[in-house]
Amino acid sequence: MDRAKLIIGNQTHELDIIKGTEGELAIDITNLRNDTGYITSDTGYKSTGATRSAITFLDGEKGVLRYRGYPIEQLAENSTFLEVAYLIIYGELPSPVELENFTNGITRHTLIHEDMKKFYEGYPEKAHPMGVLASMISALSTFYPDDHNTNLDPEKVDLTIRRLIAKSATIAAWSYRKSQGFPIMYPQNRYSYCANFLHMMFALPTEEYDVNPTVVRALNTILILHADHEQNCSTSTVRIAGSSHASLYAAISSGVCALWGPLHGGANQEVIDMLKKIQAQGGDVKKMVEKAKDKDSDFRLMGFGHRVYKNFDPRAKIIKKVSDELLSELGVDDPLLDIAKSLEEVALNDSYFIDRKLYPNVDFYSGILYRAIGIPTEMFTVMFALGRLPGWIAQWKEMRDNNEPISRPRQIYIGETKRDYVKIGDRG
Ligand code: CMC
Repeated sequence: MDRAKLIIGNQTHELDIIKGTEGELAIDITNLRNDTGYITSDTGYKSTGATRSAITFLDGEKGVLRYRGYPIEQLAENSTFLEVAYLIIYGELPSPVELENFTNGITRHTLIHEDMKKFYEGYPEKAHPMGVLASMISALSTFYPDDHNTNLDPEKVDLTIRRLIAKSATIAAWSYRKSQGFPIMYPQNRYSYCANFLHMMFALPTEEYDVNPTVVRALNTILILHADHEQNCSTSTVRIAGSSHASLYAAISSGVCALWGPLHGGANQEVIDMLKKIQAQGGDVKKMVEKAKDKDSDFRLMGFGHRVYKNFDPRAKIIKKVSDELLSELGVDDPLLDIAKSLEEVALNDSYFIDRKLYPNVDFYSGILYRAIGIPTEMFTVMFALGRLPGWIAQWKEMRDNNEPISRPRQIYIGETKRDYVKIGDRG
């Protein structure tokens, strides 16, 4: 095995090199502190691998993304969200029987406890649906207390997984209904996962709801694109929270909170706000690009840049194509799409963005697609969360199955050194 050499003063330490199946390389520093007294320092974990994972591979330089080895382009083209969810969580594409059982299991758990409905009455009218989603998922643990310590009983884990995937969609759709003052729509077992979600969001009790297969397909695609993305901020949060052996509900609820921020999943909402601002100011995209380049302003071009992708985000390419197709099929003419395209063109030809390898990411065009479906801006990050759920679950499961230790990073302390307490009357 190759070894790395670390020279500190006149001491040389040998460290193992770890090689991934796609040739990725890491230096194993697990015993570094014990052996040398040193820790490594890497704020934001830019060069730190937190785990060995068999779920998702991505190559940011080449714009490659694969779930369990399958290219994202093939899955987006041919698969359904639940099939991909099964693949990500259990490691293999399901057989027809496995998929049927998995789908039925989810369909049969879409109802949420009637008492949970009362919670919706307590949220303020303008409650952000991400806050509702996080707290309701956390509240699920109080309704299914037996699930708490079932982490290593495969049957119980499977049941919790089905409950989570099924009930999160209901919770999300109902948070929208409540925010609009509409009566909630109960799930219908005759629908597929995506059709059921659309039904719970948009159906009216007064008339029959026509499920549009084009919209169902687009929704499947966008959820597939979000389904996992290896050790991003929210996924790392799920793994870290779960590493304390907190319940799966608690770990997922933490992930929802982490996803909410504008630098992560919250960017999709910010992109639309930004495009609307450009529209209101007369459509001058160059002004926004200049503002994003100005180091005196803390404004960033939302939906641009990525910690890992330094060439292009393969998900953005697919979403752009699907949005174009959906808009033309639905006959929607969204002026924000034109603004987005001009903004992309100006930014991609600007040396600031070229030099820093900043490209449109998954969030740049996803809002356009959601708008065409009729999903309101505040719900965009919730859609991202529904899509990411299988990834969070798979990553939690992998972490528990591998019996990973509790996550507990160290730090370099830079505060005051020891000093004596001064009584309040003696302070200046
Ligand atoms: N607009 C303007 N400048 C940017 C942008 C942007 N969107 N993104 C990065 N930069 C600049 C940044 O100022 C820095 O410049 P300099 O080297 O002169 O200091 C350089 O590019 C590197 O940026 P960084 O902040 O060190 O990169 P990071 O890897 O820490 O951040 C990011 C990645 C996604 C947080 C960042 O690109 C960003 O804030 N983008 C906008 C928010 C966004 O779209 N987030 C969604 C990410 S994709 C969905 C998801 O998986 O969450």
